[in-house]
Amino acid sequence: MPTSVDPARFRQVLGQYPTGVAVVTATGPDGEPIGMTVGSFTSVSLDPPLVAFLPDKRSGSWQAMRASGDRFCVNVLGADQERICRAMAARGAEKFGGIDWRRSPHGSPLITGSVAYIDCTVDAVHDAGDHDIVVGRVQHLDIENSAFPLLFFRGGYGSFTPLSLAAGDADLLDQLRLVDLARPLMEELAADLDTEVTAMTVVRDDLVHVATAGRTSMAAAPTRVGLRVPFMPPVGSVFAAWGGDAVRERWLGQLDPALPADELAEYRKVPERVRRRGYAITIGHEKGERLEATSARLVAGDPGISLGTLRGVVSAVGSAYNPEVLDEDGSYELHALTAPVFLPDGAVAFSLTLWGPPGVLGRAGLDARAARLLETSAAASAAIRRTVGLVAAGHR
Ligand SMILES: Cc1cc2nc3c(=O)[nH]c(=O)nc-3n(C[C@H](O)[C@H](O)[C@H](O)COP(=O)(O)O)c2cc1C
Repeated sequence: MPTSVDPARFRQVLGQYPTGVAVVTATGPDGEPIGMTVGSFTSVSLDPPLVAFLPDKRSGSWQAMRASGDRFCVNVLGADQERICRAMAARGAEKFGGIDWRRSPHGSPLITGSVAYIDCTVDAVHDAGDHDIVVGRVQHLDIENSAFPLLFFRGGYGSFTPLSLAAGDADLLDQLRLVDLARPLMEELAADLDTEVTAMTVVRDDLVHVATAGRTSMAAAPTRVGLRVPFMPPVGSVFAAWGGDAVRERWLGQLDPALPADELAEYRKVPERVRRRGYAITIGHEKGERLEATSARLVAGDPGISLGTLRGVVSAVGSAYNPEVLDEDGSYELHALTAPVFLPDGAVAFSLTLWGPPGVLGRAGLDARAARLLETSAAASAAIRRTVGLVAAGHR
């Protein structure tokens, strides 16, 4: 005998389980966009790639999707898209008024500002009480922006605060203490060369500027401190060069998987090249600034910038980073030089970047700046060694 469950109780208890929020879209029989909000989206299988959502059999949108073909697109909503969530949860056909969207690669509506989209074809529809279980075969998918997703819990909307930030912050605090040891050296170098020197470290998947000394006319933002960029080629090569295989693979793994093999092979050579040279180098102010600005906008959650946009810029400006050859009698727009500062165990504690100068520089000038940077980074490594030694010996 079936156990009867009070519907209100069912909703209340199941409401204790938080979900993300997605809008499933499709193109109706007359070419008009169809969409419905779902909290039941889930990934199902990697091989083959399958996902699913569970529509109410009475949903007009689901019935229209079913009648119009087998394509649909799952739009994962961002925390700032509650308005869209509500519009797509309303009953009726006219839900897209005032909502920006374009066609996904598979032709379904892709709502502007979504965190990610997954283009599917219907693989199976299973009967499940008053709902259907729609299994979709993934045809195309991408991350649109790095904003946090919209969450639904106990009948209300919210956003995500990673608890693991606490662990990340503790790591960052340790890093900041180490960077502080190098601060007088950074100040001295910045003053000597009349430029800006910044310290950067890797926090999870991002490179973060954690300290800065001096100023340069090239600086786009009031301060670089706090600026984050994704830890992906061509930036952060110092961490890939002196990190272990796992760090190198994580770095290379951020590249566009569709990159031509020869371009990928070029990037694979970079860590060794940077190790040999002792530092990373960026030639070309316009190219460097373009990549920095695009990366910063992506990490800040700018809906106009996707990982795809950044990868496009990387392709366009990648050659400015760590070229194989530096001519003896060349003249260079030296945008940045970056060197590692080491922990006593040989791991990279953080990196130091010497910016500029604006304009061009001969090879001797470039070498002189690189030598000054390497002197500073070696002195910073030594300062860390001394302090860590003292702490280990109990002389706090
Ligand atoms: C946060 C949230 C999650 C929802 N999840 C689902 C779901 O998983 N399945 C479903 O059928 N309806 C779900 N709905 C309700 C549908 O969005 C809504 O009933 C439907 O779009 C009504 O319009 P229609 O009849 O025109 O399809 C959800 C609504 C909200 C606000």
